Amino acid sequence: MTRDKEPIIRHFRFVCIVTLIIGTIIQFSDESTFVVDMSKRHLTHVPRDLPPATKVLDLSENCISDLQISDISFLLGLEVLRLSHNRIQTLDFNVFKFNQHLEYLDLSHNQLQNISCYSVVSLQHLDLSFNDFSTLPVCMEFGNLTQLSFLGLSATKFHQLDLLPTAHLHLNHILLDLGGYYVKEDEAESLQILNTKILHLVFRPNSLFSVKVNISVNTFGCLQLTNIKLNDKNCQVLITFLLELTKGPNLLNLTLNHMETTWKCLVRVFQFLWPKPVEYLNIYNLTIVENIDEEGFTYSKTALKALNIEHVTNQVFIFSQTALYTVFSEMNIVMLTISDTPFIHMLCPQAPSTFKFLNFTQNVFTDSVFQNCSTLVRLETLILQKNGLKKLYKVGLMTEHMPSLKTLDVSWNSLDSPRHEEDCTWAESIVVLNLSSNVLTDSVFRCLPPKVKVLDLHNNRIQSIPKQITKLESLQELNVAFNALGDLPECGTFSSLSVLIIDRNSISHPSADFFQSCHKIRSIKAGDNPFQCTCELREFVRRIGQVSSEVVEGWPGSYKCEYPESYKGTPLKDFHMSPLSCNTALLIVTIGATMLALTAIVTFFCIYFDLPWYLRMVCQWTQTRHRARNVPLEKLQGSLQYHAFISYSEHDSAWVKSELVPCLEKENIRICLHERNFVPGKSIVENIINCIEKSYKSIFVLSPNFVQSEWCHYELYFAHHNLFHEGSNNLILILLEPIPQNSIPSKYHKLKALMTQRTYLEWPTEKNKRGLFWANIRAAFNMKLILDVENNDMKS
Ligand SMILES: *[C@@H]1O[C@H](CO)[C@@H](O)[C@H](O)[C@H]1NC(C)=O
Repeated sequence: MTRDKEPIIRHFRFVCIVTLIIGTIIQFSDESTFVVDMSKRHLTHVPRDLPPATKVLDLSENCISDLQISDISFLLGLEVLRLSHNRIQTLDFNVFKFNQHLEYLDLSHNQLQNISCYSVVSLQHLDLSFNDFSTLPVCMEFGNLTQLSFLGLSATKFHQLDLLPTAHLHLNHILLDLGGYYVKEDEAESLQILNTKILHLVFRPNSLFSVKVNISVNTFGCLQLTNIKLNDKNCQVLITFLLELTKGPNLLNLTLNHMETTWKCLVRVFQFLWPKPVEYLNIYNLTIVENIDEEGFTYSKTALKALNIEHVTNQVFIFSQTALYTVFSEMNIVMLTISDTPFIHMLCPQAPSTFKFLNFTQNVFTDSVFQNCSTLVRLETLILQKNGLKKLYKVGLMTEHMPSLKTLDVSWNSLDSPRHEEDCTWAESIVVLNLSSNVLTDSVFRCLPPKVKVLDLHNNRIQSIPKQITKLESLQELNVAFNALGDLPECGTFSSLSVLIIDRNSISHPSADFFQSCHKIRSIKAGDNPFQCTCELREFVRRIGQVSSEVVEGWPGSYKCEYPESYKGTPLKDFHMSPLSCNTALLIVTIGATMLALTAIVTFFCIYFDLPWYLRMVCQWTQTRHRARNVPLEKLQGSLQYHAFISYSEHDSAWVKSELVPCLEKENIRICLHERNFVPGKSIVENIINCIEKSYKSIFVLSPNFVQSEWCHYELYFAHHNLFHEGSNNLILILLEPIPQNSIPSKYHKLKALMTQRTYLEWPTEKNKRGLFWANIRAAFNMKLILDVENNDMKS
């Protein structure tokens, strides 16, 4: 019901502010560990098991009817005790004897009828309001509460000097609940309040204002009245009530909460207050009832500076709009706020107006407001936030005759950018323009006040800032957050830009030119954009790294990669790409150079080390090894007497005997040579066949001589057709000297075919290659093969 039930602890500070939203500043240090919240637990008694270190104890909204000394005496550090909304009927303040640090005691909304007094000298906040006291519960001991700042009381009867004991205290705030007060016809009551900064009187809700107590205050600054219900008849009761209170010169601030009244009575109250010293008048939650008719109003000289009306419910449906609005529009005050009302319009003052500040937030004004209005000559600030404005050029036109207008706030409307045929004119004096939360598009930039310094365009539908726009040379702060911009702006058009807010747009690769063109930038906020972490972004990241970290707001936390998927979520700060992958020319040069070097190396090896020969040999070696391992040994064993039969031309015998044979025999390879192992008496052919059949492999030493030798061809023929070894690949061809293709007679097509397959082993002329050559030969023999040597010996 009131604003004063908020927690108030320890360091109590008070500021009597214009809008009079009076709360108290709470300062918890790190004591929150000692906070015990036992509110709304249906408790009937204070719990027994409270931690003795409790500093803040909340027992509000329970059913506690009794508070004993034993309940809380052990809470030696207790500072805050909330007991509001319980059922306590009597209280002896003696129960707080041991709570020497108790600063805040809320006993409001109980059923207290009387209290026994005891000085709890540490108290700063004592709330006894909304109880059943018949007289004010102020005892002499209250005079000792020198720290007391807030005092809440309630009573149904008053005596003039009830509050005398508190006279010398420096109270900030007195809350007086008059809910139980009934008018006594016979006796005139009065109450003198000697000293407070704020006096808050709460009347009975939902009943006509009838209080007749004559309250006078010596010194105070703010008066708040809550629950005022008036009609044309009892309007005078309030005015009489206020008469005494507004006498002194001190009352500067008057607030009326929850006021229900007829229009006629409201205007009477205004008229009554007009010559009074009140400077600030606030009305919160106003309901207008019955009817609204034209009321005369004399705008006499007034001390009133600001009228602030927030949240109006109008229960009158048929009335003259002019009757309602004229009373406000003609007011000779500086500041007027009418917000959260169903008002659809405001009239243009008839004569040059005193208004400097007009706030019409959250009404239902349309574009027609203040059109062609040239009497608002002193107006500096106009707030039309949250209304029904639609056309931006109309807003511009509205300001045309407001020569002093500096700040215009038309945020949260439905403003659309002007079409081509719609001309834009603005008051040249505008320096702050708030166009945020509308539906403006790119063309808004064609329709802006030329000297604007601060421009808020956040939460609109801007996709890009057009190149061809009039320069906004004075623009210092630009907020285009929450739009659909694809890139940072260029400062060619905004040469003074120093603050740019452009977070939450669609900027994927911001151009790094920004930092060059906008050299006056002091602050940029560009986080939460979908940055595409590719090569183009590197320059931007580098530039950000160069400027100081205070300039880039939200860096590095809000700057993250969105694409590609692999970088998603990576902070831009940690995004690196090698120079090579980002520079095509460099990449091509590098690849070219590498290829060139490789080619050179390969050529070198081919020329100087005969690389192809090595490769061929190694290849054959592996193949041979593989084959040799796969030959089913069991089949061969027993029938073979030699590892190899060697066929060669007589002309090559020197090489065979000096190189081949010694080398093979060194490896224990048994060799069948025709001049050594031929069985005499058998024909040469028989001997050859015999030798081939008994050998595991046949080695042919190929050379131009071999080609010429008829015998050799026979041997090759037999060996190749050796039925016994069929499929076992029993041929080993050694090319001793190169054989020109055309030197092979065409009838030896077998040899020709073998030569073209190049399955021979070349005898290298260079000595250092010979190791590999021999390894290749050896690989062809499987040394596990057990030869039928006895059989051989027996025969021979
Ligand atoms: C513009 O208005 C919005 C709310 O409507 C507010 O949040 C913002 O701070 C204002 N901008 C400026 C520059 O005052």
